[in-house]
Amino acid sequence: MRRYLVAGNWKLNLGPRAGRDLAAAVGERLRGRTLHGDVVVCPPFVSIPAVSEAAQGDPVMLGAQNCADQAAGAYTGEVSAAMLKEVGVQYVIIGHSERREYYGETDDQFVRKIDLVHAQGMKAIFCFGEVLEDRKAGRAEAVVQAQLEGVLPRLESANAYNLVLAYEPVWAIGTGETATPEIAQQMHAHSRKITADLLGADTAANLRILYGGSCKPGNARELIGLPDVDGGLIGGASLKAEDFVGIVDGAETAATDR
Ligand code: PGA
Repeated sequence: MRRYLVAGNWKLNLGPRAGRDLAAAVGERLRGRTLHGDVVVCPPFVSIPAVSEAAQGDPVMLGAQNCADQAAGAYTGEVSAAMLKEVGVQYVIIGHSERREYYGETDDQFVRKIDLVHAQGMKAIFCFGEVLEDRKAGRAEAVVQAQLEGVLPRLESANAYNLVLAYEPVWAIGTGETATPEIAQQMHAHSRKITADLLGADTAANLRILYGGSCKPGNARELIGLPDVDGGLIGGASLKAEDFVGIVDGAETAATDR
């Protein structure tokens, strides 16, 4: 049985003060509850310590949105996996479509980053997904396969415990257009099958695959209730405590329905 994971990706929003307020509001709503899954927030780097302090004792874990592809040294502007570990981060998002599109990040970098995250005992959330043009051209499955093949077999020590996948169709990110349950289930099953071929059937059966792209309280239960969807990576809706916790509630209902 896979535990769900709901992870909030705050992107370039909320400095330390606003981040602390949001974490406190989320924590307050979840405090004292026994959840059937895991809840993570991924603030900008500089907000992580304030969020960590605000979430102390609450069922909210810390994540980061990125890390350097080098361990240390003369790499101006970067933040290493070891530094994230030191401030209490447990999950690091790698390969988000915005990193691919705006910063030109490549499979080689994703492999190095994920290995560095794993070397620190943290978990990587590796994102992939097709753009609209690929879907329209009937290439969605092939694109996702290539994205997974370009990274998973090259990882040093990936397993179902330290790796989470996030299928994020780029046409659904921040657009308000969510993948239909049929598309989500089909793409998740497809991704799990490819993962089985690349990392083994056991790993694929136990590894969590999140859905990302305009997930909100109103569709979380249905999406996260799908057989191969094990949670959500939440952008816009993670910036409001009520919406983010509404998605956690959806995941809880889906988990207890199972
Ligand atoms: P969204 O973003 O929920 O705003 O669509 C998801 C993501 O980019 O992870």
